[in-house]
Amino acid sequence: MTDHISHDILIIGTGLAGLRAAISAAMTNHKLDIGVISKVQVMRSHSVSAEGGTAAVLFSDEGDNIESHIYDTIRGSDFLCDQDVAEKLAHEIPNEIYQLDKWGMPWSRRDDGRIDQRKFGGYSFPRATYAQDKVGFYEMQTLYDTCLKYENIHFYNEWFCTSILDDGNNNFSGVTAIEMKSGNFNVFNSNSGIIATGGAGRLYSFSTYAYSSTPDGLDMGYRAGLALKDMEFVQFHPTGILPSGILITEGARGEGGYLINNLGERFMKSYAPEKLELAPRDVVSRSMIKEIDNGRGFIHETGVPCLKLDLTHLGEERIKEKLAGIREIGIKFSGVDIISEPIEIRPVCHYMMGGVHTNIDGQTEMNGLWTAGEAACNSLHGANRLGANSTSECLVWGSITGRLAAQHADKRKEKGSALTNLENKVQTEEKRIFDGIFRGRGEVNPYDIRKEFTDMMDIKAYIFRDENKLVEGLKKVRELRDLAWKHVDDSAKEYNTNFINVMEIDSLLRVGEIIIAGALNRRESRGAHSRTDYPNRDDVHFLKHTLAYFKEGGGPQFSWHPVTLTRYVPAERKY
Ligand code: FUM
Repeated sequence: MTDHISHDILIIGTGLAGLRAAISAAMTNHKLDIGVISKVQVMRSHSVSAEGGTAAVLFSDEGDNIESHIYDTIRGSDFLCDQDVAEKLAHEIPNEIYQLDKWGMPWSRRDDGRIDQRKFGGYSFPRATYAQDKVGFYEMQTLYDTCLKYENIHFYNEWFCTSILDDGNNNFSGVTAIEMKSGNFNVFNSNSGIIATGGAGRLYSFSTYAYSSTPDGLDMGYRAGLALKDMEFVQFHPTGILPSGILITEGARGEGGYLINNLGERFMKSYAPEKLELAPRDVVSRSMIKEIDNGRGFIHETGVPCLKLDLTHLGEERIKEKLAGIREIGIKFSGVDIISEPIEIRPVCHYMMGGVHTNIDGQTEMNGLWTAGEAACNSLHGANRLGANSTSECLVWGSITGRLAAQHADKRKEKGSALTNLENKVQTEEKRIFDGIFRGRGEVNPYDIRKEFTDMMDIKAYIFRDENKLVEGLKKVRELRDLAWKHVDDSAKEYNTNFINVMEIDSLLRVGEIIIAGALNRRESRGAHSRTDYPNRDDVHFLKHTLAYFKEGGGPQFSWHPVTLTRYVPAERKY
């Protein structure tokens, strides 16, 4: 008999969205019992790596305004964002900035003591609220400290969730999970749930993400019958260092950094004459690849083509004050001190615009289940996210979903709703995990499969795509999936990371297939999705969201979902 743990609310994921949701739920009703589960230790969540800023309008006295944040977000999204969602973000994020301030967030300040903001790509005003270049670390620490003040928030660190349970009537009932320390398989029962498992950028080899950023949370939703939306839109950040892919914040360009080619030119003047290096990421990354393809790139010592980011003119004092973290990264991981030398960079996988399909409040297609943060696709970012809008999203929708999940749990509690008997589902899941994976003795090394798959994604589903590449990519992912690769060498029960890695690879292959198949279906170029064979945006046929549903034994089943347009008619983007 499997052990059961019960909570009123379950939050899966301990990044910014998960922690903000936990506080919001606890504040909504201090009598509710909140469980927060993560496959890592809280402060190892990938949100800790966020560097540059959190976008918000704080200085309307200096000309900035909410309407401009809304429009910049919509234009940045290449008009695929749901406009009511952008409105909600712009209106609600300023309060979140001040709320964090009250909880102890050490925002960088101006000389007059007001919170400072810096420029970021695609915005009309300096709007990225920052704390040096370690925004995510400080935000996480502030939220975690705050969580620890609530006795009704309970953390389960290093538990790997395997599946979502529903009661047979589309009501969320909990999750199954493995405690990594003991290897025990457990059921968590709950009336309300929030998926906040973050993004999945380890679908690519060249990536800014933590190694733990695999799509197991997305895959769990997908297998439970929820649609994954707009997965073909993957963001490539212009400045990943070589060879690791570690991020150099856009804040470096916000502070005045230049991108240069092998002629020493600031080449962005040819592509985005007004915004230059501070055009949105899709525009800058495409421009970089064009420069490289036209022979104006550099070659890194590993043989990889790249460009350079020049910060030398900013001066030692400014770099040490505002960009100390990336200076250290440059020295340690590239052997370059950005104070005295330009650093080699190249566009790198950084964000997934897609995720679990939700409505404007983060509600999924299952009653009692919400999604927040990068795991969600509430359609805020459309085809291209503006930098600094994701930590904003985590805070705003962490707060909203936490409150709604608490209200739902409260109602279900009042009704005295009994948890349905889940034993059959749990047994099937236990069999899938332990017979299907833990005892797997396949013939092919799963780590080789992972590498082959993510290297393939770097080539076939990178910035410029076309039908041939995508068809080859789809064929490859299906071939890899069909090989006998489920091999767990380590038979130990306790801390079996080999077993966990194989489960992660299982999710990579399923979700990778959705990205490639979705990219193949979208025969247009929009935002971060550029098809050389369909170079134009096609609003007549593709001003719509992609939904992918799981079909047992087959590929994803696709359908479309309308875009909410409230006030702005799609127009050509010029920067
Ligand atoms: O460049 C950066 O600091 C990244 C920020 C973001 O992705 O929002």
